[in-house]
Amino acid sequence: MKFFIDTANLDQIREAQQLGILDGVTTNPSLMAKEGITGQDNIINHYKAICDIVDGDVSAEVIATDFENMVKEGEVLAALNPKIVVKIPMIADGLKALKYFSNKGIKTNCTLVFSAGQALLAAKAGATYVSPFIGRLDDISTDGLDLIEKIRVIYDNYGYETEILAASVRHPMHIINCAEIGADVMTGPLSAITALLKHPLTDLGLAQFLADHKKGNS
Ligand code: G3P
Repeated sequence: MKFFIDTANLDQIREAQQLGILDGVTTNPSLMAKEGITGQDNIINHYKAICDIVDGDVSAEVIATDFENMVKEGEVLAALNPKIVVKIPMIADGLKALKYFSNKGIKTNCTLVFSAGQALLAAKAGATYVSPFIGRLDDISTDGLDLIEKIRVIYDNYGYETEILAASVRHPMHIINCAEIGADVMTGPLSAITALLKHPLTDLGLAQFLADHKKGNS
C-alpha cells in the first residue's frame, strides 16, 4: 500500500519523507490556503519545493472548472516536474480533462469522489488515481470504507488500472481498514501515519530491555 501525506506543510512533508515510508503527497486548494500560499507564482514555487523534498507523486489541483482552462492549468502544472499528478474534480468537464490527460500520458488524480458510479467514470476516463473521500462520508453518517470496498470490487471485475487512493483519511484505523480492504494508496495527515507506530507494550518492553541492559552492565 502506498502512503501519501495530505498536506502542503513543508516541515511535515520533510518529516514524513525522513521516516522512509512516504510514497507521495496530495494537496488541495484548502491545504495550500492553510499554509498561507496564495497567488499563482507562490503556488507554483510551493509545488516545486514539495517536489524537491519527496520521492514520489505530488498531486496538484486545478482551480478551473471548465475543460479548456483545466487543460491549460493542468499542462502548466504537469510541466513543473515529472512527479506532478494533475488533480481534477469529478465533474463533467473534469471527466473530459481526465481523458485528455490520460491520452497524453499525463498522470491524473480524480478528486471529490463520493460514489461508486463516480469512481467507475474516473476509471473509464483513464485516471491514474481515484480519490474517494472516506472521512467526509463518515462525517455525514455514511460508511466511507464501504465505498472503498465497492470500488475495489468494480475495478477488480474489469481489471481497471486506476489506483484507489483513499482520501480524507483522519485516523490510524482508517489506514488499517483501507489496507485490509485493498485500497492501493491512502493519503492522510502526519498524525495518522505516526499513530501507527505507537503501542504501549513496545514502550514498556523497550524500557525493560534498557533497564536490564543497564543492570547487566553495572
Ligand atoms: O485528500 C482529500 C482531503 O484533503 C480531504 O480531507 O480531511 O479535508 O476531508 P478532509
